[in-house]
Amino acid sequence: MNRIFSGIQPTGNLHLGNYLGAIRNWVDLQGAYECLYCIVDLHAITLWQEPDVLRASTREVTAGLIAAGIDPDKNIVFNQSVNPDHATLAWVFNCVARLGWLNRMTQFKEKAGKNRENASVGLYAYPNLMAADILAYKATHVPVGDDQKQHLELARDIAQKFNSDFKVDLFPLPEPMILGEATRVMSLRDGRSKMSKSDPSEYSRINLTDGPDDIALKIRRAKTDPEPLPREAAGLEGRPEADNLIGIYAALSRKSREAALAAVGGMQFSLFKQELTDLAVSILGPIGEEMQRLVKDPGYIDGVLRKGGERARAVSRPVIEEVYERVGFVQP
Ligand code: TYM
Repeated sequence: MNRIFSGIQPTGNLHLGNYLGAIRNWVDLQGAYECLYCIVDLHAITLWQEPDVLRASTREVTAGLIAAGIDPDKNIVFNQSVNPDHATLAWVFNCVARLGWLNRMTQFKEKAGKNRENASVGLYAYPNLMAADILAYKATHVPVGDDQKQHLELARDIAQKFNSDFKVDLFPLPEPMILGEATRVMSLRDGRSKMSKSDPSEYSRINLTDGPDDIALKIRRAKTDPEPLPREAAGLEGRPEADNLIGIYAALSRKSREAALAAVGGMQFSLFKQELTDLAVSILGPIGEEMQRLVKDPGYIDGVLRKGGERARAVSRPVIEEVYERVGFVQP
């Protein structure tokens, strides 16, 4: 059976990269798979989070997923900390994964920065928890943006080593699903750095809660180059900002880069930016409005998370029992 697991951190605002790289694909995949979509609060605290802000962000991200079109009745939507099986399996994986594997993780190096000695142990072991998220449900497919590829390779290595150490075929090797034309949305201020929640410039990203005026302003201010848009995708080479804006336009209009350029190639940026704004507002506007409406009803959101957590636990419990049995833990 094919089962999807994916996660998103409740840290800061949801942005266009999260939407095009992950959330919209999650919406598209529901129905075809059994899906678990998780707000990963345990991962969030690998970097300092103010408790009240973490609580608010967890509810806001949940609202965002629902507003984007994820049906919490048909899919399992929950926050990670409500199911203790994630942390439990992560501990077992801490004893399966090798230091050398974690030392290669580029995200740790980026997030820890220069002062690595001062990073939390959790930040270092982050990918093991991510493997546990996926494998606690024996998920077979994981829809993510391009930046999570290395972590998923590690999850496969952990699954394989567990299976071979204990001579079992317990865990499937989860397949990444990196879908669409915007698998790595870049900052609007710099086409060579990723759009991210942690960028200090608000102009670097479009948030799902941005209204039409903010979206228009941010796109108007987006960095470009002096040439008009090329007519073919090959002409985007060496033009990271143009490539990024075309990637966003293509993804939002569900076209390939080539098909997008057939429509807008040759345009000056000023005109193209107007087209892009209209498109972005037409898609993101209703999501942002619905999200604002849902966050005003925390009772509903908490009900979704509670029910999702119960359903998630029912799926992971037998897997953890199997793991305990194989590892040799006495369960009197
Ligand atoms: P997070 O919270 O950073 O991002 C959530 C999802 O959004 C994608 N994404 C992007 N896609 C395209 N362009 C961008 N600029 C961009 N920024 C973010 C991410 O690739 C991701 O799919 N470690 C994960 C959360 C996680 C997880 C998991 C994912 C925890 N456990 C298990 C999959 C399976 C993370 O920090 O995502």
